[in-house]
Amino acid sequence: MARMAVSVLAILLASCALAAASFDKEFDVTWGDGRGKILNNGQLLTLGLDKVSGSGFQSKHEYLFGKIDMQLKLVPGNSAGTVTAYYLSSQGPTHDEIDFEFLGNVTGEPYTLHTNVFTQGQGQREQQFRLWFDPTNDFHTYSILWNPKHIIFMVDDMPIRDFKNLEGKGIAFPKNQPMRLYSSLWNADDWATQGGRVKTDWSHAPFSASYRGFKADACVVTAASGTTRSWT
Ligand SMILES: *[C@@H]1O[C@H](CO)[C@@H](O)[C@H](O)[C@H]1NC(C)=O
Repeated sequence: MARMAVSVLAILLASCALAAASFDKEFDVTWGDGRGKILNNGQLLTLGLDKVSGSGFQSKHEYLFGKIDMQLKLVPGNSAGTVTAYYLSSQGPTHDEIDFEFLGNVTGEPYTLHTNVFTQGQGQREQQFRLWFDPTNDFHTYSILWNPKHIIFMVDDMPIRDFKNLEGKGIAFPKNQPMRLYSSLWNADDWATQGGRVKTDWSHAPFSASYRGFKADACVVTAASGTTRSWT
């Protein structure tokens, strides 16, 4: 006897395109009570940090693969204790995440660029870099190229890290969960600078980091509920 099975599926629809719209079209400032600001007709975004709070923003869209470019200019001067995070992340306890984190330093000492990849909630794939320029003098482009085979971290279009899909060797790779783009400026002086020995000097607050030139050549995902019927 034939029987009809009805199942409800969550269908992920992806549409891939190049977006280079203004910050107000692509992002929401999500926390920081006015410390995050979209300026110049949406062409510039600044985050602020003071003793009371940091601030942050997130993309309106979720992406499943693509190349995301953003130009950042980091907190100048004595930025010890501050962290500027710029990352892709999915939601939930088994989330995936692709991280750039910029760890501030005392005046004249170099920032540390920290990268990490989480798959299904599992991180510990850190790699740290020293930049070959002062990231506070000018805007530089930081990119994440994410496809089913690679995650490539780039600085001014120069690849600095290639996290390959090595699922064949039993290493999990993020490729099923759509991710949003997030960024935040916050106080992490318990660990960030010289292992937590150097604390944030609040006499230099408010601290500020700037963003411009967002570009996503990426697949935007929308979740739709679908119903399928099949005869079994
Ligand atoms: C800060 O500068 C010191 C001295 O050059 C260096 O050891 C350290 O890695 C730098 N970065 C951070 C985040 O502490």
